[in-house]
Amino acid sequence: MKINDLATLGRFILSPECKSVVILTGAGISVASGIPDFRSPGGMYETLRPELITATEKQRRLMEINPTSVVSTEMFFQTAFPYLEVRRPFILGVRDKIWKPTIAHYFARLLHDNTGKLTRVYTQNIDGLTNAVGLPDDKIVSVHGTISKVACENCGQGMDFDSFCNEVETKIKDIYNPENGPRESQPIRCSSCGKATVKPKTVLFGSSLPADFFELSAQDLPAADLLMVVGTSLVVGPANSLVYSVPQSTIRVVINNEPVGEELGIEYGPEAERDYFAQGNCDDVFLDLINELGWNVDDIIDDLPEYSQTLMRMKGKNQS
Ligand code: OAD
Repeated sequence: MKINDLATLGRFILSPECKSVVILTGAGISVASGIPDFRSPGGMYETLRPELITATEKQRRLMEINPTSVVSTEMFFQTAFPYLEVRRPFILGVRDKIWKPTIAHYFARLLHDNTGKLTRVYTQNIDGLTNAVGLPDDKIVSVHGTISKVACENCGQGMDFDSFCNEVETKIKDIYNPENGPRESQPIRCSSCGKATVKPKTVLFGSSLPADFFELSAQDLPAADLLMVVGTSLVVGPANSLVYSVPQSTIRVVINNEPVGEELGIEYGPEAERDYFAQGNCDDVFLDLINELGWNVDDIIDDLPEYSQTLMRMKGKNQS
């Protein structure tokens, strides 16, 4: 079946040919929640301020040249401060639950509840918002880990999230808002090995992904009839390998602000045979798709961020 628009996509999802849907998400789906992505203008990498971070001049230069070094294994084992200082507001924001899932997050639950065809969501996001929509845990693979689980990167000793947040609040300086925390950062030490290598269980560049990514993707992809790629630049592997690991017969739909993954074989334009690109804000696109599918969203409206609620009011979608 050739997908030309959201109406045909909706019909395909509801058709008997579509039995298994896999969704790959990235930072773009949490932008409407208020969390900037990594690579867009104004994203985390463009707004990084190495001069504010506790580090040597050499380390700061490296962060200027390559902002991803802040979240790299190599940098972290030299010093945990860049990671912890950059991530401080994010860690404390997750603790304080200041961000809410959007329509794009809820789509997976609506798909699961209405059709039972959701095989898995592979999310590269560490914000935990995919886990906050009421999906069974086994439907979600947190490809790059999650902020709300904490362990020592050196020895694996776990730490309670709230205790860790207290340590972050009192020991790690707030580089964006200096009056919020201590003037100087102090190490957060592991209770087992004593090293200053305690951090949320997120995957650093240079470290391997959780085993369930490899185990479940090997199981899920061969049977996928539809792969939905949402809010990701597809520049980071091996997460991006999902797009070329599905069979030729799998329909691939990209829902994103911009075309992504052409170098991975995703086709755009009128010649594209199997791939469909729904360009735009993913909340907007999902709202239109949900409307095509005729699904009721009454029970989620009140839980959505203001942005999504406004969008719904403007479009008057499926509300009683
Ligand atoms: P990126 O910041 O690389 O890409 C986000 C994509 O979403 C871009 O293509 C944006 O155009 C698009 N986008 C942004 N807002 C959107 C919106 N409202 N609607 C639709 N599209 C939107 O983020 P990721 O692809 O998730 O890894 O980044 C992948 C990995 O790189 C992250 O998991 C993280 C990062 O370094 C690690 O830290 C290991």
